[in-house]
Amino acid sequence: SLKVVIIGGGSSYTPEIIEGFIERYERVPISEIVLVDIEAGAKKLAIVEALSKRMIEKSGYPIHVRSSFNRQHALENADFVTTQIRVGGLEAREKDERIPLEHGLVGQETNGAGGIFKAFRTIPVLLEIADDIHRICPQAWMINFTNPAGIVTEALLHHSLHKKVIGVCNIPFNMKTGIAEMFSCPVEQVEIEFMGMNHFVFGKRVFIRGEDRTNEALAKLTADNVHYSPANIVSLGWSKEFVRALQLLPNPYHMYYFQTEDVLKRDLAAFKEHGTRAQIVKQVEESLFVTYENPALAEKPKELEQRGGAYYSEAACNLVESLYTNKQDIQTVNTRNNGSIRDLPDDAVVEINAVITKEGPRPLAVGNIPLQVKGIISQMKAFEQLVIKASLSGDYDDAYNALVMNPLVADEKKATAILDKLLEAHKDHLPQF
Ligand code: G6P
Ligand code: MN
Repeated sequence: SLKVVIIGGGSSYTPEIIEGFIERYERVPISEIVLVDIEAGAKKLAIVEALSKRMIEKSGYPIHVRSSFNRQHALENADFVTTQIRVGGLEAREKDERIPLEHGLVGQETNGAGGIFKAFRTIPVLLEIADDIHRICPQAWMINFTNPAGIVTEALLHHSLHKKVIGVCNIPFNMKTGIAEMFSCPVEQVEIEFMGMNHFVFGKRVFIRGEDRTNEALAKLTADNVHYSPANIVSLGWSKEFVRALQLLPNPYHMYYFQTEDVLKRDLAAFKEHGTRAQIVKQVEESLFVTYENPALAEKPKELEQRGGAYYSEAACNLVESLYTNKQDIQTVNTRNNGSIRDLPDDAVVEINAVITKEGPRPLAVGNIPLQVKGIISQMKAFEQLVIKASLSGDYDDAYNALVMNPLVADEKKATAILDKLLEAHKDHLPQF
């Protein structure tokens, strides 16, 4: 028997991961899936459970699906646990996005001040979940998509007893898909050497069918204006000068750091017109759930592509498959550096290519960080560590340091103003402060 527990099972993304498991059933014969959520999410959970059952029934595979509000009970004998939760829901996300924007700062759910507060709310909850896993099903792999996924994964690996934790994101997969389009080839023929952190990852080299095509990829990126952005992180396009000098593929989130003024201008205009991304997502979700409720629907609907996280489950299911079958293929994951990036500590969590074995990821060496991004990557890693420290201590000064040292805040007065505002706005979800 093979049991998967999905924490945050009522998420609108769940049909995607169910589809991924169905597609892989012959190689990964899952016998039981438990969708776990909190009682406040009961309605969504019931809808997702019913849709999942219809999908599985249609597939004909003997996978048993059920839902549960009792996490500890659900975890018994689990082999894989995925975590996809949003502490405080979209309401909290709206505050993370709106409050910084109101102070003239980037308002984004995983970057800048918003991302910091998402981490503050999330890390303590995920630590509890990891502790439960360690106690109840210590053999299980915990696969975390909960954002900010890299920071959360590092917090877990440093502060939980459970060490079988891997973080994943759809951005590396999206970038590979974009490059495949660029070279008009199937995505399986694309390899990108990734290096950095989650939502701060760079592509160092691009291989097509094993051949190094980095220079062409860099040139095409600006010439063809190929965008490998998800629905929510819409690219402004990169200048030739930037990409040529950088000699690295930026990821979509880098626009917040290297095009700050232009992005802010655009985001502020959008905010005035229709509110933040959270409000758009709320509407997308509402209509998605109406679709999900249709008893005739037995597949993942196309509309899910309006969500930025579309295809996240590709990463998750591939990982489950390779861990389970000891496939030893290369995937991009958030894991302990272990020397792969020479300038970062061994225990730092990085987003990197790794060989996926049944004992876990074995990261591939990429050497030193290219000088042009060595400073910013080191700063961002130190920043992430400040966020983790503050998440655990609940200390005002620790939180202040995380904020003021983030390149998207970097202003002592604004740091105080938004720290106070966000602490107040999120107080129900920040027991540590
Ligand atoms: C990207 C990121 C995910 C994030 C998602 C948000 O794909 O990689 O980590 O969750 O965007 O999408 P949303 O539709 O919620 O704005
Ligand atoms: Mn992500």
